[in-house]
Amino acid sequence: MAAASALGWVCPDDGCALPPQAHALVCGGCGQSYAVRDGIPCFLQPERMDPRQQFEQTLRDREIAPPENRRYRYERQVGIEAVRRRLPPEAAGLILDAGCGIGHLTHQLLEHGHEICGLDFSLERLRYLKQHAPARGRLAVATADLNHIPLPPGSCAAVVNTQVLEHVPTAAARQQLLASFARLLRPGGTLIVTVYNFGEPWRRRGDPAEGVHASGIFYHCYQAPELQAELEAAGFEIIEICGIVHLVPHTYRLWPRLGALGRWCDHRIEAHPRLSQRWGNLLLAHARRPV
Ligand SMILES: C[S@@+](CC[C@H](N)C(=O)[O-])C[C@H]1O[C@@H](n2cnc3c(N)ncnc32)[C@H](O)[C@@H]1O
Ligand SMILES: [Zn+2]
Repeated sequence: MAAASALGWVCPDDGCALPPQAHALVCGGCGQSYAVRDGIPCFLQPERMDPRQQFEQTLRDREIAPPENRRYRYERQVGIEAVRRRLPPEAAGLILDAGCGIGHLTHQLLEHGHEICGLDFSLERLRYLKQHAPARGRLAVATADLNHIPLPPGSCAAVVNTQVLEHVPTAAARQQLLASFARLLRPGGTLIVTVYNFGEPWRRRGDPAEGVHASGIFYHCYQAPELQAELEAAGFEIIEICGIVHLVPHTYRLWPRLGALGRWCDHRIEAHPRLSQRWGNLLLAHARRPV
């Protein structure tokens, strides 16, 4: 398992530093006590969340590792590599994986020696993430609602937020989330967000841009100009918005090494924003907090 991080948690309500304790973290400012379960600080206060998010949180806790097949694994790996290649090198500092889930991305970032803080509102998913974490890198996890993040402003070199923003139920809350990422980043810090792409023709022929999955989880599909406008409104400088493409999703079936060739082709297309924004099933935004 990854080495514990020296990360300093703060009270998500008033920003007071929380001295490390084994069973509870107590805020000297407001007196609030946050339980620590199996070494995981729990900052989540479900009663404060939108009912749709409470529903999602309960479901995510139950569905720890959703069923998957080789196609998911292939597509996920394309996405992970697209994020990883845009991150600053290991020495750059703390990366917040905001809505880390069971840690598909987190684990690979740790393998590359990064220092990661993983936040998610599902305690069960974080338990899984911790149990399966590799020995490299430095890891700290906590349950939290991303609208009340227990980290001090300017503490992160990068924030990654993969397939989370699209499940936040209102435009105002999505905008608030992006603004809170801007505060957490140090000047010049990197933000990478991935969301469902409604620009892709297959997506447009099927479900509406916004709705509820069969599981009951809310989703909102983005178009590139909308994502760009929200990021700019939160004060970010856009470096690029591209699509994550799965052009040859079936190569992995034929021969595993062709999967690597497929990924190589997908990443080549990513470099052409107009093409990839049209054909990618996800959009990836790479942005920076201005210096
Ligand atoms: C679709 S999963 C993506 C997980 C991971 N980022 C990945 O790419 O594999 C969305 C995750 O975000 C978490 N999540 C959604 N909204 C959240 C919120 N407001 N606060 C904390 N976690 C949230 C869910 O519990 C879930 O684990
Ligand atoms: Zn407090």
